[in-house]
Amino acid sequence: GFLAGLLSGAPAPVAASGITSLKVAVLYASQSGVAEGLARKVAKELKAKGHAPSLASLEAFEPAALAAEEHAVIVASTYGEGDPPDSAKSFYGRLCMDDAPRLEGLNYSVLALGDKHYEQFCKFGIDLDARLQSLGAKPIRERVDSDVDTDEPFAHWKSELLARLDALAGGVAAAPATPVASKTDAVPERAQVHTRETPYLAPLVEKYALNKGDSSKQTLHLAWSLAGSEVFYEAGDALGVVAQNDPCLVSDILDAMKLSGEEHVEIGATKTSHTGFMPLREALTHHLQISRLNRRMVELFANEGRIVRLLDLLKSERQTELDAYLWDRGPIDLLTEYPGVLHVAQELVAMLPRLTPRLYSISSSPAAHTAEVHATVAVVRYRSHNRDRGGVCSTMFADRTSAGDRLPVYIQPNKRFRLPRRQDAPVIMIGPGTGIAPFRGFLHERRAVGATGKNWLFFGDRSAATDFLYEDELTAMRKDGHLTRLDLAFSRDQERKIYVQDRMLEQAPMFWQWLEEGASIYVCGDASRMAKDVDATLHAILQQQGRLDAEGAREYVDAIKEQQRYHRDVY
Ligand code: 2AM
Repeated sequence: GFLAGLLSGAPAPVAASGITSLKVAVLYASQSGVAEGLARKVAKELKAKGHAPSLASLEAFEPAALAAEEHAVIVASTYGEGDPPDSAKSFYGRLCMDDAPRLEGLNYSVLALGDKHYEQFCKFGIDLDARLQSLGAKPIRERVDSDVDTDEPFAHWKSELLARLDALAGGVAAAPATPVASKTDAVPERAQVHTRETPYLAPLVEKYALNKGDSSKQTLHLAWSLAGSEVFYEAGDALGVVAQNDPCLVSDILDAMKLSGEEHVEIGATKTSHTGFMPLREALTHHLQISRLNRRMVELFANEGRIVRLLDLLKSERQTELDAYLWDRGPIDLLTEYPGVLHVAQELVAMLPRLTPRLYSISSSPAAHTAEVHATVAVVRYRSHNRDRGGVCSTMFADRTSAGDRLPVYIQPNKRFRLPRRQDAPVIMIGPGTGIAPFRGFLHERRAVGATGKNWLFFGDRSAATDFLYEDELTAMRKDGHLTRLDLAFSRDQERKIYVQDRMLEQAPMFWQWLEEGASIYVCGDASRMAKDVDATLHAILQQQGRLDAEGAREYVDAIKEQQRYHRDVY
């Protein structure tokens, strides 16, 4: 692009900022409009920077037109079971044909949108990315996969993308004033030896309850030894655990279908796991998700048995009723409520999605906890429809794992959740409940490497007496000054609920002061309510202390996101 332009002597248009203006195709594959909205934002920013974006839906686009472009950015939603949105089906179909045009001249980047609740998370964006590369196109910036909360992944994808495009346009001058490359983008990371497909069998060396007395919650501290392994991580990364289902639930399912478990079944291949024949009991124990229902499972089952009540429930007008039905039932309930619908082992297998590994924010620091990795796990248990149920992995830890057992684990790097590169930068950490996990890691890491920046932690849970996780460590760090501030919100110790965001608001002047000193904010924990409320409170603090209006506060938040000073690890 740029170099060729120089060599050929062709005059390149010059943007207002003094950089070469690039022609960029901004494309989207949207189902509900989210991808389109994000594509519009990118186009707007490119324009503001003096480039020449052209916005289009893939619906009206031809692979040949793409081959004629030099720069393209694509925001691609995944729909249904890993499919392209309807509007992009025809484009993608043609792109996958043998006679699709080569794309050697194209520089591109994909933002994939998806929903982590689905097994085929971001599949269309992933496939599209792979296909573009196989046709010879070159990535400008590596693909980012975003869950339904697109804020953080979008900002992360966009900031580096825009910087790379500016660099392509020939401008060192165009580099933004704030560093856009995070610490880990600058330092190439070693590739992980142990992945989801090739996990490491790590011995559990420690397991203890973090709650005291008669807490209403059960939270576990778990430590695995990594001694002699090739497993390495950084504070902020996640630990993937390949879980096993409860053998009692497996037996109940087999009993309900009057099967022995010896029947041989075939598990279909997916992108990440192989196909194979094995006894049904093994498939149900290790490979299939048997504790929760999803819409597709109920659909297949209802069609198979022509069950009017379920077919009726599946009609879209009754979405909330369907959600309520799916919420606290599992496949075992279908099998017992409607006996005889399924009796062949393979039919059951066909209905069940793959069991996926569970991810936990790591709560240790490799610098402080040599050759160990720790996790902080809330044990999920509930009773519904006459049955005790629970989280697959958390109940496995609680009920079926003890010190000495080896479990298959791997590291899921989380490059978007790393301590600031500057060791003197202040950090504000907000992590109620098990959201404390990465911050315990951060605090130990900062101490071990001698980072001098101030540390402020907001922690909360139900009750101080029973649920103050890592109380001894945290109060010791507060006493010796490593924690500059520790603000606690125990929600159920008084009439009125007090949450971490209430403590933030109480400390608004100081919160603002830290931000103005360049503090980075980290939020970890519940996404549906806590992270939203914390975000709203951040905006409120900015309005109050920075004397900004709502729009001004939004811009401030956008700016700190852009500077990689607002990180969220929420689930
Ligand atoms: P609660 O369960 O008493 O309502 C960890 O789970 C802590 O987060 C608990 O003290 C819980 O309080 C609290 N919590 C619940 N909803 C919250 C929200 N919207 N914002 C912040 N904290 C919340």
